Amino acid sequence: MTTARQAHPASGHEGAPWWTRAVVYQVWPRSFADSDGDGVGDLRGITGRLDHLVDLGVDVVWLSPVYRSPQDDAGYDISDYTDVDPAFGTLADLDELIEGLHARGMKLVMDLVVNHTSDEHPWFVESRSSKDSPKRDWYWWRGPREGMAPGAPGAEPTNWRSFFSGPTWELDEASGEYYLHLFSRKQPDLNWENPQVRHAVYAMMRGWLDRGVDGFRMDVVNFLSKDVDLEGALADGPVPEGSAPGALGDGSASYVSGPRIHEFLAEMHEQVFAGRTAQLLTVGEMPGVTVEDAVLFTDPARREVDMVFQFEHVSLDQEGSKWARRPFDLRELKASFGRWQEGLASTGWNSLYWNNHDQPRIVSRWGDDGEHRVRSATCLATLLHLHRGTPYVYQGEELGMADFPFTSPDQLRDIESLNHLREQVALGREEAEVLAEIAGASRDNARTPVQWDAGPNGGFTTGEPWIAVNPDADQVNAAAQRDDEHSVLAHYRRLIALRHDEPVVALGDFTMLLPDHEHLYAFTRRWDSAAGPDELLVVCNVSGEQLDLADVLPQALEAREVVLSNAPAHLGQTDPGLLPAVLGPWEARVLRMSARA
Ligand code: NOJ
Repeated sequence: MTTARQAHPASGHEGAPWWTRAVVYQVWPRSFADSDGDGVGDLRGITGRLDHLVDLGVDVVWLSPVYRSPQDDAGYDISDYTDVDPAFGTLADLDELIEGLHARGMKLVMDLVVNHTSDEHPWFVESRSSKDSPKRDWYWWRGPREGMAPGAPGAEPTNWRSFFSGPTWELDEASGEYYLHLFSRKQPDLNWENPQVRHAVYAMMRGWLDRGVDGFRMDVVNFLSKDVDLEGALADGPVPEGSAPGALGDGSASYVSGPRIHEFLAEMHEQVFAGRTAQLLTVGEMPGVTVEDAVLFTDPARREVDMVFQFEHVSLDQEGSKWARRPFDLRELKASFGRWQEGLASTGWNSLYWNNHDQPRIVSRWGDDGEHRVRSATCLATLLHLHRGTPYVYQGEELGMADFPFTSPDQLRDIESLNHLREQVALGREEAEVLAEIAGASRDNARTPVQWDAGPNGGFTTGEPWIAVNPDADQVNAAAQRDDEHSVLAHYRRLIALRHDEPVVALGDFTMLLPDHEHLYAFTRRWDSAAGPDELLVVCNVSGEQLDLADVLPQALEAREVVLSNAPAHLGQTDPGLLPAVLGPWEARVLRMSARA
C-alpha cells in the first residue's frame, strides 16, 4: 500500500492553483466539426459546438495545431507560427473562438510545436539555402560519417531511427550535408543550442499570449536539448540485439530530457510567462520522462511547466515498439499510476489521460467496445478521473467512441501508419499481417470524425469527410446521449462536476489498495478539511466478470454514502446499504467513507 501525501496542506482548497480543479478537453481540429462542407473540421465548426463543451463542464480547451502547415504530419509540421492554415479558417475565426470560450468561462491552450518546424518554414528555407546562411545553424546540419560519401548507405551522421520509420537524417543534395529530423523528413529539428532560435520562439509565444490565449501544450518539449559534444558531434544509439549490419539504432539517450532541458524551460518561463497575472496553463508532452525528472519539471519553485504528459501507462501493452502488442495487465497499471501518484504527491503535479490524437481509443484498448461499451467506458473514466492530477478528455472519449475497423490501407491517412506499412512490406512482410498490427495501434483510430448525430457522416460534415466516419456512428453519437442519464456523456459530466465540487477529488491524498488484484482497481482519497477528514473509496471492477467485494475489500461495505456509480440500477442511489456487495461487470463506485465533511 502506498500513500501519496497532500501537497497543499496549509493552503486549503482555495490556495491551490486553479488547474488542480480543472478538466481539459482536447480538440483535434481536423476531425471535430466541419462548418463549410469541405470535409475537414475547422475553427468555425468548433465555435459552433461550444454548447457541447459547456454541457460537459470542461474548463480548458487544448487546441491541436491550426497554424499554417503543409499537413505532412496533420499540422505538427508548421510553416508559419503566426497564422492560421486556410484549411481551418482565419485569424479572425480563431479570435472568435477565443472570445466564445472566454465568454463561457473557458480557456484556450494552443499547441506549441518548437522541437521542429516544417521544411517549408521560411527559417528552414533560408537555412537550407547555403552553408553560409545566417540561419544555417538554426537547424542540425552535419556532414556524412567520416570517410564516407554523402548519400552512401550508412553515411548518416548518426544511426538514429526516426519516429516515422527510416533514419533521422535527410541528405540535402545541394550542400552535401544532412539535416536532423526526429519525425518526418518534412519536420527538421530546430537547434535550441542557438540563442537566436530560442528568442525567436519566445517572441512568438508572447505574441499568442498577448492575443488572448491561455497557455500552451508543448509538443515533445523534453526533446529540445540534444546531447552534443564540444566538437558538435552527436553519438550513435544502441541497436536492437541480433539486428542485421547497418540497422538503425535508438538515439533517445541523446535527446530525451537532454543536458540543457531544464535550463531551456526555465529560460522560456522567464522570457514568456514571468510577471503575467493571467491564469495560464503549461503542459509539456514528454515521451520517456521519468517520475524523478517530472518532479523537477513541475516543481513550482523551479518555474518550468505546470504539468507533464508522461507515457509510461500508455506503453504498458507494448513490446519494444508501439506496433508490437502484449496483453494488458491491470496490476502493471496500478504499479505505474501508483508510482506517479506517489512521486508527485508533495512536489509537482500529474496530468491524467487515456486518449489523445496519438493513442487508440481507450474503450477498445482496455475496455470492451462490444457488450459492455457504456459500462467499461464509464468504469475506466471513473478510475482515471478520481486520481490526483488534472484530467484530459480527448474529443469523442466522452461519447465512448471506439477504434475504427481498419481493413485496408486506403482507409489510413496517418504518416506514421503509412510509413510503417510501406517499410514492413518492403522488408518482405505480408501486407495483411502488417495491417492487422496497425489496426489496433494506429493514430487514425483517434482521428476519425466526432460523431455528433445519427445523420450522414455522423453530423461531422455535409461533404465528403477526409477520413471515414466510424460505421457505429448511428448508435454512438452525442445527440443520442445528451438527454440520457445513463450515457457515457452523462457520466463524464458527473465526473467533471465532482472535481469542481469536491476538494477531496481535486487535492486529497491518494492511497493505492490491493496492488496485486487482477481485476479490482481500488484506492482511497483523503482530504483534511477545516470541517474534519473527508475520505473517498473508489472501487472499479476492470473486468467482464462479477466481483464480490465481501471477499476482497470488505471495508467497501462500510461506506456512508454513494457519491457516484456507473450502474444504471444505482444511479442517484446515495445509500450504500441498498447496494449489493457484488460488483457487476465493469462496475465502478465512488464511496464516501467518512461522515460528510
Ligand atoms: C507529438 C504529437 O502529439 C504527434 O502527433 C506528432 O506527430 C509529434 N509530436 C511530432 O510533432
